[in-house]
Amino acid sequence: MPLFSTWVYLCENGPGHLNEALEQLAHRLMQDERNAGHRTNAGGWHYADDLFLLDEPVVRTLRSRMEQHVQAFLNHFRPEARKKQDRFRLKGWINVNRAGDLNLLHCHPGSFLSAVYYVRVPQPMRGGDIVFRDPRGPAVAMYETPGIELPWVGSGTGMPFSPTTGQLLLFPAWLEHRVEPFQGEGERISIAFNATNP
Ligand SMILES: [Fe+2]
Repeated sequence: MPLFSTWVYLCENGPGHLNEALEQLAHRLMQDERNAGHRTNAGGWHYADDLFLLDEPVVRTLRSRMEQHVQAFLNHFRPEARKKQDRFRLKGWINVNRAGDLNLLHCHPGSFLSAVYYVRVPQPMRGGDIVFRDPRGPAVAMYETPGIELPWVGSGTGMPFSPTTGQLLLFPAWLEHRVEPFQGEGERISIAFNATNP
């Protein structure tokens, strides 16, 4: 009987046919320095505006696919008779991390769900994991029990997830996360977005 579990939605096969166009869009936007923002990124490039406001065919297709995923996540928890179409709005941005770039621990206030879609993850990737922090905080590790493995303690450092190209993660916006320094060739490109009330 799990209580207060934290649900993360993983789609192994996101809209990979959009990746090339999304990568081109990122590179086009990166040419204008006014598009570079600074949020949780230490190094790396972060699109300064709402990606979903761009009038681009690839962005419209991406938004529609991502809305379907958000809706599927919400409906997953509802009994058949209560599954429905919700009204929400997506706000997104692009992250481009090169060797040494990382994202500090943060959450996404002002939204109910957050997500990241991996447009390009160079393989083999060293570093570059997204690490979710245990929302229970340090409390679960406060009392050590040598020789007794407690199932709820965890590693104490959070739960790492090593992404690959085409994967999509959705998670509660309050779930803190960070991105470890990427140590690979080329660029690790992801699109993050939040879902909010319309
Ligand atoms: Fe984030």
